[in-house]
Amino acid sequence: MPTPKNKNHQPVLLDEILNELKPKKGERYLDLTAGYGGHASEVISVTKAKATLVDRDENAIYELKKRFRLKEAKLVHSDFLSAAKLLVDEKESFDLILADLGVSSPHLDKQARGFSIQKDGPLDMRMDQRQKLTASDIVNNESEAELIRILKEYGQEPKAKRIAKLIIGHRPIQTTHELAQIVSRAWPGHSRVHPATRTFQAIRIAVNDELTQIADSLPLLLKLLKPGGRLAIISFHSLEDAIVKSFFNEHGGNRYDATLDILTRKPIVAQPNEIVFNPRARSARLRVAERK
Ligand SMILES: C[S@@+](CC[C@H](N)C(=O)[O-])C[C@H]1O[C@@H](n2cnc3c(N)ncnc32)[C@H](O)[C@@H]1O
Repeated sequence: MPTPKNKNHQPVLLDEILNELKPKKGERYLDLTAGYGGHASEVISVTKAKATLVDRDENAIYELKKRFRLKEAKLVHSDFLSAAKLLVDEKESFDLILADLGVSSPHLDKQARGFSIQKDGPLDMRMDQRQKLTASDIVNNESEAELIRILKEYGQEPKAKRIAKLIIGHRPIQTTHELAQIVSRAWPGHSRVHPATRTFQAIRIAVNDELTQIADSLPLLLKLLKPGGRLAIISFHSLEDAIVKSFFNEHGGNRYDATLDILTRKPIVAQPNEIVFNPRARSARLRVAERK
């Protein structure tokens, strides 16, 4: 297994990504969620061609700038939907595209970012620090009906109505710990998973508009892939994975007009030996397709 070279964030399914993308010298690589460059550095060490690395997080871009030389990577500080639109307009094309979705370890580790249930912090949860909308805006200002929709649609939370009422009854809510404690009242008793996990996921997805980012980008990625080019997507929850699966099925398979060959009939998951040293890998699901 290649050694991950960044202590900030361990890339998940690194061997599997290299096996599936099969990078070759000279190939053009687009990383939509470059993060701390773990996947990118391994791919670029083989392609030895200038890659395009996108991330919406300022800290990630800062670290990528330190890690890669100008001739190795063009860095794009943007959400990947906007970046993909721009690249299509510029008539760019790529042999290899990777999206390793979701948050990075530093998002969860730095309490000021407000992503973590475990660490007390402000209700923020923005991946892009330039964005106006924060978790606090949603928690403290949204209507009851909208809170219920967010909790149901993005968190699959069975107690959405109860939690929405609790949130509204306790406004203003300032911190992640306050929110976690309030939500826990909807789930008395003990469970292995923190009772606010689904609420945190739902609010994070809403703040960052994560499902639109994926769903609207996929058709653009198809345009950006060269014939024979490979697209790999790692998702971390069933909502993301369902969008990718349905897009692959819609454009792949045996139909005469299929534009994709699906290379993973079932998603690839992490081996137990990876999960031991990187628990984030536990929920990772990798799907890969090749442009016809
Ligand atoms: C799981 S980490 C990626 C880690 C990376 N593969 C590595 O090896 O270091 C996800 C990264 O994607 C970024 N991200 C998530 N959604 C994004 C989006 N819609 N547009 C741009 N960046 C996004 C996050 O800021 C985070 O840095």
